[in-house]
Amino acid sequence: MIAGRPTWAEIDLDAIAHNLKVVRDRCKADVQVLGVVKADAYGHGAVSIAHALARAGVERLGVASIAEALELRQAGITLPIVVLAGNYHRAERLLQQNRLQPVIFRHEVLDALEASIDPGEDPLAVHVKVDTGMGRLGCAPEELPDLVARIQRSPAFQLAGVMSHFARADEVGQQTRQQFESFTECLGPSDWQGAVRHCANSAAIFADSAYHLDMVRPGLCLYGVDPYDEASSGQLQPVLSWWTRINTIRTLPEGSAVGYGGRWVSRRPTRLGILPVGYADGYPWAGEGRAEVVIRNRRVPVVGAISMDMTAVDLTDLDGVEELDPVALLGGPSDRAVRADELCRWSGRLVYELLCSIGPRVTRVYKAGGLAQVGAPDLRVVLP
Ligand SMILES: Cc1ncc(COP(=O)(O)O)c(C=O)c1O
Repeated sequence: MIAGRPTWAEIDLDAIAHNLKVVRDRCKADVQVLGVVKADAYGHGAVSIAHALARAGVERLGVASIAEALELRQAGITLPIVVLAGNYHRAERLLQQNRLQPVIFRHEVLDALEASIDPGEDPLAVHVKVDTGMGRLGCAPEELPDLVARIQRSPAFQLAGVMSHFARADEVGQQTRQQFESFTECLGPSDWQGAVRHCANSAAIFADSAYHLDMVRPGLCLYGVDPYDEASSGQLQPVLSWWTRINTIRTLPEGSAVGYGGRWVSRRPTRLGILPVGYADGYPWAGEGRAEVVIRNRRVPVVGAISMDMTAVDLTDLDGVEELDPVALLGGPSDRAVRADELCRWSGRLVYELLCSIGPRVTRVYKAGGLAQVGAPDLRVVLP
């Protein structure tokens, strides 16, 4: 923990393994799982999560960039890693050197990749992406046969997969079905000779087993968040809880304004707790006036503006609270726990955004098998 600033996130690696099993149980036995660990594993710490997923038997990992993949390779992760980027801009050689599997969808990118591979080297495993309606990366469905033929002709490449990505799998409606039909139509009945066909993110995994094909690509659900209401019928376990300790307690007279803008004014003599967490840590500024935390098993309101490094809470109705008492910002004990969807509702945030925004000042503490370990030991010291 950063000395004197006890604000940390507890990450339950057993829950990661449990959630992977929930995904497996949804799928047929021969369906592979690619665990999405991009954006530092949605803020959970990519290296620790990748090790946990590897131990739990995931077949591949997915990241957003070569740099993210290199971090995992340097940490000793040997699993196949798919780089979901589409274009590699003069870093192509790193893909071959580190046995990374790029996603491609354009001949120009294949040209650059081919040029980066020396004759006699192992072929580079690539995944071709088809745009069936997301409108970001991917070839048009009719371009797929030509790209595949080229990959299969070239000794530089091995076709590892053919993929697409859903835009609205968490919504009720026909859009996902239409995307899927467009994908399966262009895949045709052909035998893909070991190349995996994949399109399902978390929401699609729970929505319909037809979407699983040969491999699924869960992100959010591995981190214990239902991709839509009741998707997992309560089977997923929360992975991350976020904590701090009260830094200072002071009593202010009635009529005192608290925080930037002075928008909250005490209506009674108020015992105020100042928490060492703010928007620089990812605690949402927009939660002012709505957010709550849990102290001594009670919900306590955040008052005044959430500032960069500090947040104030009203402790007046709580007996016996002391400085250094623990405070749950997300999660926490029992039925009072702050749910991710609540914090999102209070702050107008997307749950993905909330998790990814928990900043580097928040020490990650990993728990597995009843043991805890503080992550990233760099400049930090562990408080007793
Ligand atoms: C290509 C791709 N596949 C899978 C995922 C995982 O999505 P989710 O976190 O909704 O499961 C993502 C995440 O954005 C993605 O970009």
